Amino acid sequence: MHIIEEETEHYASAKDAPIGIFDSGVGGLTVAREIMRNLPNERMVYFGDTARVPYGSKSQENIIRFSRQIIHFLRTQEVKAIVIACNTASALALDAVEQELDIPIIGVIRPGTRMAVTVTRNKRVGVIGTESTIRSRMYDRCIQEQDPEIVVFGKACPLFVPLVEEGWLKDPVTEEVAQRYLVELLRKDIDTLILGCTHYPLIRSTVAKIAGEGIHLVNPAYETAQELGRLLAREHLANTGEHNVESRMHRFYVSDAAEKFGEFANSILPYDVKRARKIDIEDY
Ligand code: DGL
Repeated sequence: MHIIEEETEHYASAKDAPIGIFDSGVGGLTVAREIMRNLPNERMVYFGDTARVPYGSKSQENIIRFSRQIIHFLRTQEVKAIVIACNTASALALDAVEQELDIPIIGVIRPGTRMAVTVTRNKRVGVIGTESTIRSRMYDRCIQEQDPEIVVFGKACPLFVPLVEEGWLKDPVTEEVAQRYLVELLRKDIDTLILGCTHYPLIRSTVAKIAGEGIHLVNPAYETAQELGRLLAREHLANTGEHNVESRMHRFYVSDAAEKFGEFANSILPYDVKRARKIDIEDY
């Protein structure tokens, strides 16, 4: 039995329906924020899997299972399209779940790689992400599909996620950790670096300082919002209402620790999230 039926709205047309967006927890709010900024007419249903975070160290089998449950939940909310905001889930589950859906779904990896392929001049691209994302080599594959001459260098940076969640965005400890992670990549003469994890745009300035001016940083969250806009237009699903969606029209769900989620959300979104509701995702 799904306990949140009373939350479900019915929409006059598919265009008015919300976009479903999910992540392993709070990190995907960096993608939600870009969608709010770039597609202000769209409303959103966000799900953060705070009970099962982190995804970055879990197996593909589990990530696919979690993604299926979340998509099932989002479908009960009558979403018109789905964004997998999590890099790890985009790398490990998108291929499996997209075949099962009759609504559009996008992840963050393809949009990020498109920009990287466009901006690299020396065809040497670095990617940083969780252990599972880097091990999957999905970024490498997507880039080489577009340009086989590009060489991709990956580096897992698992400590960045807890540092960001601790709020140490410009802390000397974070800088020291970033130095250690990036030193090897920087020796590879890359000219482009993809921030391949939801949390990394929040430490962009720290990474930029260490990477130096010659390296172009790619933020897949921003690129995904752009790609979503094009996708909605192409599928005639863009909300053409004249007014910006008000903040209360977005809905936030989590699988645990709703209050903590709310605090983090309020620190990065342009307005207060009044309420995040907890649901039992294992029911879906
Ligand atoms: N959201 C995850 C990602 O972008 C990072 C946090 C986690 O490991 O779950 O890969």
